[in-house]
Amino acid sequence: MPHLLNRQTSGEHLETLYAFSAWLAGTGMSLFIQTTTGLIAIIQTIHIAALATVAVSALLLSLRLAGRGFTSEPLARLAQRFVKTIWVMLVLLLVTGLLLIIAEPARTITNPAFYWKMAMLAAVVVITVWLSRVARREAERPSPAAVAAGVIALLLWAGIMIAGRLIAYTESL
Ligand code: HEM
Repeated sequence: MPHLLNRQTSGEHLETLYAFSAWLAGTGMSLFIQTTTGLIAIIQTIHIAALATVAVSALLLSLRLAGRGFTSEPLARLAQRFVKTIWVMLVLLLVTGLLLIIAEPARTITNPAFYWKMAMLAAVVVITVWLSRVARREAERPSPAAVAAGVIALLLWAGIMIAGRLIAYTESL
């Protein structure tokens, strides 16, 4: 019985999501993006340029934490620079991502790949906040835990990119 109830509840949630998606697709903002030639492609291009910048910044930060590359620059200063770039690019990703959702909500808001992507994003944000603190505290010799967290962050960024691309190929619920 609890199993049946759960099913019913998740079915209701799904219906609400589909209704929200249909409403969003009919708003003026969505119709404007859908019907302006090239606008979706421009938004996607900005999204991809921002994610490439995030990936490079995260890679250089993780390499520096492991003592590989850019060792002539103090870790604290390098981390400050790259973490700031990551936050600025994340704002750009959030804005362009939201515009893509508004344009074509049915592609994302009922898609499991999208929720995997958001969960991994939440995890990597927490790790990056921690790493930027570590870089200030353990500027000379980061602990093995910090180096490992840098590797995990890279794996999460890769997972986010894969999930982002998979949205286009995954069936909605
Ligand atoms: C911050 C919140 C974000 C939101 C709301 C968001 C949302 C979206 C949306 C709606 C799409 C279009 C999916 C489709 O219709 O096929 C997309 C594509 C994509 N996103 Fe994001 N995204 C965000 C952050 C990120 C981040 C941080 C990364 C990677 C570091 C990323 C990587 C990608 C990739 C690789 C694609 C596929 C691009 C393509 O092939 O056209 N996104 N995202």
